[in-house]
Formats: sequence, C-alpha cells, structure tokens
Amino acid sequence: MKIFISKKIPKAATDLLKHHGHIVSMYDKEDEISVQDLIDQCQKNEALLFSGKNKLDADFFKSCSHLKAIALMSVGYDNVGVDIAATYTIPVSNTPGVLSKATSDIAFLLMLAVSRNAFMMHRFIADDQWSLANRSENLGIELYGKTLGIFGMGRIGYELAKKAKGVYDMNIIYHSRSQKPELEKELHAMYVDFDKLVCESDVISVHSNLSEETEGIFDSEVFRKMKNSAIFINTARGGIHNEKDLITALKQQQIWGAGLDVTDPEPMQSDNPLLKMRNVAVLPHIGSATTETREAMAIMAAENLIAIAEGKKMPQQIIP
Ligand code: DGY
Repeated sequence: MKIFISKKIPKAATDLLKHHGHIVSMYDKEDEISVQDLIDQCQKNEALLFSGKNKLDADFFKSCSHLKAIALMSVGYDNVGVDIAATYTIPVSNTPGVLSKATSDIAFLLMLAVSRNAFMMHRFIADDQWSLANRSENLGIELYGKTLGIFGMGRIGYELAKKAKGVYDMNIIYHSRSQKPELEKELHAMYVDFDKLVCESDVISVHSNLSEETEGIFDSEVFRKMKNSAIFINTARGGIHNEKDLITALKQQQIWGAGLDVTDPEPMQSDNPLLKMRNVAVLPHIGSATTETREAMAIMAAENLIAIAEGKKMPQQIIP
C-alpha cells in the first residue's frame, strides 16, 4: 500500500512497513501538518498512520473516503471521528497497552512531585530563594497509606494502582465504566460511585477517555467536594477538567495541589497562572514519550496497517 505518516516516527516502524513492500511517505517537520496538507497527502495515498493534534472530522473523511485504513499512533482517539470513519467503512486502530507503563510513570511522578512541592522547590533555588531558616516551611504531604482514587480503571489506571500499592501501600478506590473483580482481588481495590471517589480520595488520578460523558466532569462542584488536602492528577486529556475551576479551587485552597501532563488547549501558554502556583506541576503531554514506548507504539500502528494489506482485521481495530 501507499502509506502516509503524519508525523516523524521511529525508523524501526518505517523499516517494517518497507520490509513488507509498502511505499511510505512521511511529514518529518517539527510542526504539525496543516489539515489541508494532510488531506492532500492522504489523497495521494491509500492508508494513513496518524498521530497529532489535527481533528479527523466529517470534512476530512469526505475528502479521504478512499482510505483503506487509518492506524493511530495513540491510545486516545477523541480527535478522530471514528463513527464517521465507520460510515465509510474505513477501519481505525489505536495503540493500547504499550504505553501504559510509561504513562502511569508520569502520573506517579506528578503525584509524588506535587506531594513534595518538587517543581516549585526547584524554581525557588533557581530564583535564589533557598531558605534554611524555617523548619516548618516547604512541608509536603506523605503518600504512605493514603487513598488513591482512580477515575477510569483501564490499563494505565491499573498500572498506576499497582505502583501506588507496591510503593506506598495506598488504598485503591476507583470509578470506571465497569467493575473489575480480578483487580479488586489483586490490589484490594474497591469500586465506588463518583461522589465517593471525589470525597474520599487523597489523590485523584484521571485515566478515562475524553468523551461527552467525561468532558469537564472535574469542575468547581467536584473540586469543592474534594478534601482540602487532596491532589488532583490528570495524564489523560485536558478537557476532562475545567481549568478555570481548577485554578479557583487551588487559589481558594479547596484542594492541596495538582499535577497535569495534559492541558486544554495544548500547548499551555507560558502566562498560565497554574505555572506560578506552589503545589502545581505541569508537563507537556509526555506520558508516552520514552524511546522504548514510542517505538512500540509506532510498530504496533505499522502492524495494524500490515494486517489490512494482508486482508486481515487490524489487531487493535477500534471500528468498524
Ligand atoms: C495517547 O496515546 O493517547 C497519548 O496521550 C498521546 O496522545
């Protein structure tokens, strides 16, 4: 097949595609390809290996209805109209599983960094404000034996729960689309309703998809119900929390702190008030950004396209 790749990906994946006889072209600049260029390129090709911020919406699919397949190099697909793809019978796949460990590492890192004010302490030193005088300054919160509430217990949530249990013996509660009896047994985790998750967690970590159901679900009402000592972590999608409400909750000390690897919009602007707050840590959406994970994601996406070319179903096909 003639395959267009919307962003630079590891060579191992392009080599794999070429090895299977596919003709590959790639947008290899640092910026995001424009929607028009993406459409133009797709029109010259038969399949798309996609990652990026562009929306694959009704207009895109109308212009590219000839595509034989789209392999996403991401687990999230909130920017892809998969239902529209289905009406054109274009199969779409994602990359679940391979990024769970790396992304849960970032959730863990943020949880610990916020609990000990780590990012702000680093900045204090850089700003020449290292003070030795007061032993009651710069105090953090310990995580040992505290309650971790997971919102969206999929693969990434599970990996974080495992780490939190193993390292800090945290009590795990979760709210998810379905209950997970095996996981409850393994981690002594407890399924709770959303309200209980919000009220009882010392740390809430978001691992759900962004959907109509979850968009903005963490809003002022929810932050008000959280413990004043609670930490809010989001490594899933920025749209799941209301940023304005989060800023107010932090300013009014309704919650202790927040750690974000995702924001809305991305990138976050440098004058965002969150960046100046003591108990806040923000990262630029690097959950899956390790050499190993990005390579595994790219190979998985390539394998999905190889399957289509061989007349098979994509192993990670989401739809149709
Ligand atoms: C994913 O795979 O969904 C990551 O968040 C990267 O976008």
